[in-house]
Amino acid sequence: MGKTTLITGGAGYIGSHTTLALINAGKKVLVLDNLCNSCRESLVRLEYLTRTRVDFIEGDIRNTNLLDDIFSRYDIDAVVHFAGLKSVEESVRKPLDYYANNVVGTLNLCHAMARSEVFKLVFSSSAMVYGTPRQIPIIEDLGTGKPINPYGRTKLLIEELLTDLCLSDPQWRIAVLRYFNPIGAHESGLIGENPNGRPNNLLPCLTRVAMRQVPELMVYGGDYPTADGTCVRDYVHVVDLADGHLKALQALQSRNGIHAWNLGTGIGYSVLQIIRSFEDMTGITIPLRFAPRRAGDIAECWADPSKAERDLGWYAQRDLMQMIIDTWRWQMRNPHGYRSQPGLLASIALKQWV
Ligand code: NAD
Ligand code: UD1
Repeated sequence: MGKTTLITGGAGYIGSHTTLALINAGKKVLVLDNLCNSCRESLVRLEYLTRTRVDFIEGDIRNTNLLDDIFSRYDIDAVVHFAGLKSVEESVRKPLDYYANNVVGTLNLCHAMARSEVFKLVFSSSAMVYGTPRQIPIIEDLGTGKPINPYGRTKLLIEELLTDLCLSDPQWRIAVLRYFNPIGAHESGLIGENPNGRPNNLLPCLTRVAMRQVPELMVYGGDYPTADGTCVRDYVHVVDLADGHLKALQALQSRNGIHAWNLGTGIGYSVLQIIRSFEDMTGITIPLRFAPRRAGDIAECWADPSKAERDLGWYAQRDLMQMIIDTWRWQMRNPHGYRSQPGLLASIALKQWV
């Protein structure tokens, strides 16, 4: 079966979908996750879906001894690195946690990789590194901007760290994947986004209103200079994103140095368009209320994903309808995420799926 791919943060939202894609592509994987924003159940469900045991180590990327131990015990040839904290709002309140987890964690990981002579890395970056975009659609080659919050700044710092690393040693092969707005879930409804605490992102907030767990959806700002006054984003299906990691790993076989790719659809939808599409597809009315603009939101942001298509042969295959259907299926089957009915629900859902 060959060498192992280490997946940090592989129990999380994008990590679990990518772990599934890698296993389905015949790769041997090892997941390292401290479960600070995920749970073991996502991996149990991956085992259901793949009929494969998923090797898992519960641990922290800030633990250098653990990293050295992992690289010495497993025959690892590449790392797909998701582990990190991702809440913009929390990063403003707890910047030290964000710099420690994201920047120091990545630094430790790269150190351990270098010590073990593992030089292939796929890193989860974000469209946040562009700051307020100078032009839309956003192309990679225009360079990064000024992220407006600590979370975004950790991503930019890491990109710079990785660039310096590649300049220092030509053995490194690094893919920086800049995600736009990941939504959706695997079509089985078995794995999906499972935010701890109160969600901030549009789709998790919207589905909670649809489930009547929350009375109404706040629409942050109706006075933006967009067609209907609400913000426009590039929503991309998490299964397409997962496929992008597989393609990036393949691309690194034949190229060294650092390469950044936008992973988005190239299509922007406004908040109201998302709400109306959800209502049309599910028949559920979403009560909403306009609220003041959310601090830090930009009016419009979508990708030019043509570099990924050119270099990786990747493009998003799933449309907004698919994203909404899959998000809703996941939410219906797991009204309280993985805490709904661990194990039991997975087996029921699996019977419907196979
Ligand atoms: P997630 O929180 O679901 O997954 C991150 C995983 O990393 C979790 O399982 C968490 O337990 C683990 N983790 C966190 N800190 C760790 C540490 N120090 N050691 C070991 N494990 C640790 O988030 P996600 O949405 O799957 O995001 C994955 C990556 O993609 C993150 O780096 C995030 O910043 C980036 N990203 C996410 C989005 C998004 O909208 N979801 C957008 C752009 C970039
Ligand atoms: C946010 C994060 C970004 C992250 C991305 C994907 C911020 C400022 N940025 O981006 O770091 O990469 O998620 O996870 O948080 N909205 C509402 N009502 C809601 C929730 C959201 O109107 O209840 C609006 C927002 O104002 C925004 C749009 O929906 O205009 C999308 O919001 P969200 O899903 O949080 O994504 P981003 O803000 O683009």
